[in-house]
Amino acid sequence: METGSTIVGLGRYVPERVITNRELARTIDTTDEWIRRHTGIRERRVAAPHEASSDLAYGAAREALEAAGAGPSDLDLIVAGTATPDMLFPSVSCLLQDRLGARSVGCLDVACACSSFVYGLSIAHGAIVSGQADTVLVVGADTLSRITNWRDRSTCVLFGDAAGAAVLRRAKPGSGFLSFALGGSGQGRHHLHLKAGGSRHPASRETVERGDHFLWMNGPEVYKVAVQTMPRAAADALRRARLVAEDVDFVIPHQANLRIIHSVSDRLGVPTEKFFINVQRYGNTSAASIPVALYEAVGAGRVSAGDVGVMVAFGAGYTWGACTIRWGGAA
Ligand code: ACO
Repeated sequence: METGSTIVGLGRYVPERVITNRELARTIDTTDEWIRRHTGIRERRVAAPHEASSDLAYGAAREALEAAGAGPSDLDLIVAGTATPDMLFPSVSCLLQDRLGARSVGCLDVACACSSFVYGLSIAHGAIVSGQADTVLVVGADTLSRITNWRDRSTCVLFGDAAGAAVLRRAKPGSGFLSFALGGSGQGRHHLHLKAGGSRHPASRETVERGDHFLWMNGPEVYKVAVQTMPRAAADALRRARLVAEDVDFVIPHQANLRIIHSVSDRLGVPTEKFFINVQRYGNTSAASIPVALYEAVGAGRVSAGDVGVMVAFGAGYTWGACTIRWGGAA
């Protein structure tokens, strides 16, 4: 690519409230041992009653802007990935624009569930390389705790709330994002969805009584497709950048489940030591999982200028997405 884009600032916001496995085991029929063995998760964060996704997004966005040395008025586009917007409309990106005090720039929400952040990066990259924008904010923010059935042990142990953000700007040739590989298949809609509250099943007493406003998932089926699709998407992104597994210095996978991450490592042929993993502390935070992990990987010194990295996501839809990046290189 002649003109590129790269990440120049990262931010994260995680709610204060921690719920451990042991605490969950006091209200549902589960154990710390079962959850750790099947998922790797030890604890997760849950938003305070007054916090919605745009509040989490705001905390992450402020930090990312500060790290980028940019102000809200520098933004040319705001992209927010979320499956749990504050309300059906207006979008989280519009709420964020107002709260940040940004100019009246384009505001766009991306509804690709756990893949939303990678899709958002792709949109931001496209806007920069096509000359539509110089500085773009991409946020992944979700409060899955609000759509979780806390009595369903097969799902409530898996998720947590968080937000992560990145500011993108132009990159020197050969630096920053090198490739994207996005995909989707609506055939997966039967295995992971939230049935009611949209135009097909508007909210009613019956939908509430049936529990149709909770996330529903066929876990084993989603697992099977995730472990096949994530390595394929990552390999596709590598191929598009003319890279091979040996070139990879770090991988930021969607943090859904430790067993999925190990399987992706095996199938992709990149050692697990190169994967940054924090699912133990946050569970699956959906759109926030990749930016929060990237933020922590950079903070932990696991990512240096010039390193080649892969981010890879899979989520409801189904949707999936991967990208490669040569870290740093702001123009
Ligand atoms: N505690 C104790 N037992 C449980 C629990 C729990 N929290 N949850 C389920 N079980 C029981 C089940 O009832 C079942 O019992 P049974 O055999 O008597 O019927 C048994 O454990 C095995 O259940 P499975 O669902 O087959 O367990 P599995 O080993 O497949 O693990 C899990 C379930 C962790 C959900 C796994 O399927 C998974 O990780 N799937 C991927 C889901 C995911 O991460 N989705 C997120 C969105 S997409 C994405 O981000 C990748």
